[in-house]
Amino acid sequence: MAFLSDTLARVKPSPTIAVSAKARDLKAEGRDIISLGAGEPDFDTPDNIKEAAIRAIREGRTKYTNPDGIPELKAAVAAKFKRENGLDYAPEQVSVGTGGKQVLYNALMATLNPGDEVLIPAPYWVSYPDMVLLGGGTPKIIETTLESAFKVTPDALEAAIGPKTKWLIFNSPSNPSGAGYGHDELKALTDVLLRHPHVWVMTDDMYEHIAYEGFDFVTPAQVEPGLIERTLTVNGVSKAYAMTGWRIGYAAGPVELIGAMRKIQSQSTSNPSSISQWAAVEALTGPQDFLKERATAFQRRRDLVVSMLNQANGLTCPVPEGAFYVYPSIKGCIGKQAPSGRVIENDEVFCTELLEAEGVAAVFGAAFGTSPNFRVSYATSDAALEDACQRIQRFCGALR
Ligand SMILES: Cc1ncc(COP(=O)(O)O)c(C=O)c1O
Repeated sequence: MAFLSDTLARVKPSPTIAVSAKARDLKAEGRDIISLGAGEPDFDTPDNIKEAAIRAIREGRTKYTNPDGIPELKAAVAAKFKRENGLDYAPEQVSVGTGGKQVLYNALMATLNPGDEVLIPAPYWVSYPDMVLLGGGTPKIIETTLESAFKVTPDALEAAIGPKTKWLIFNSPSNPSGAGYGHDELKALTDVLLRHPHVWVMTDDMYEHIAYEGFDFVTPAQVEPGLIERTLTVNGVSKAYAMTGWRIGYAAGPVELIGAMRKIQSQSTSNPSSISQWAAVEALTGPQDFLKERATAFQRRRDLVVSMLNQANGLTCPVPEGAFYVYPSIKGCIGKQAPSGRVIENDEVFCTELLEAEGVAAVFGAAFGTSPNFRVSYATSDAALEDACQRIQRFCGALR
């Protein structure tokens, strides 16, 4: 009898975490490494949020809570959806979990049966396919292209939907491409979904507030209210409020689904940290001005990185609408030889050689389902970014 489960054999470890670990190891050996692998803002959690957590500890708010969130946080989440997205959700339609990741996981665990298909546009956040597999479902990838700026077309969505499709996982702005769907682009997709009433939408809006000039964030249930009965709108404080370590994410959707997710959570982690929940109340109800300031800083970095990467031999880098990633194509480098003598056959070799030759750590595109590309996170200082992009230019220039 095997000790480890068959479920475990279906999933792979996170490649993004593996890249960060490799970069850390090389740094520990004394190498001069710049890591562009991180999926978190380099900014600190704002002081008012930290103070709210300290106050919660002092006031003894340190006990178990409702499995899916304290009433104060559910109310703050419902108010956020109304204020920022024009969505009417009652507090009992809200679920709070240990990061957006657990919320997505709970929803999949609560709904998937063997044979159920989940549509995932590529390039995708690395965890979606594996979470679907853990839940016993089948990921079905929808390909996109550089020419469509890595956005799904209505025809591709229509063609991917079948009788077994249960969910579409939608992520805008996207990790890893940064692609954000404007109102009309999203409406074209929701029009397709309206024609297929058995398909639900899990929208991961985690990068809502990291959105740039000329792009207005919209979410599916806002663009098409007719979908609200089969949409789970997922968001969280991790990226917007620089709170990745606090582990608070949330979602709103139909009461029956929220109840099913609560049942899963009550038998796994019980509830998200009480202290983090009070911090999240402050994040969502306190001053919001810094969100814009931080997005402006990210936009400056995006412009720097896009411009410098487009000057590197063999790279093509589209201009993303949001998030803190770019996803350049390395098509022009394929088949060339690195200084080590190794031929760049694919994006994994490109990233390995880049790390060896120039000490720049980035994540290869195959990890996100679209090749030949690589993901650069620009959630780091302007100086480090400039240095890293110069190294990438030098590396690409040295390919023969
Ligand atoms: C698209 C996307 N969704 C969800 C998450 C998870 O967020 P959290 O840290 O709140 O679990 C991430 C984190 O990298 C992400 O990039």
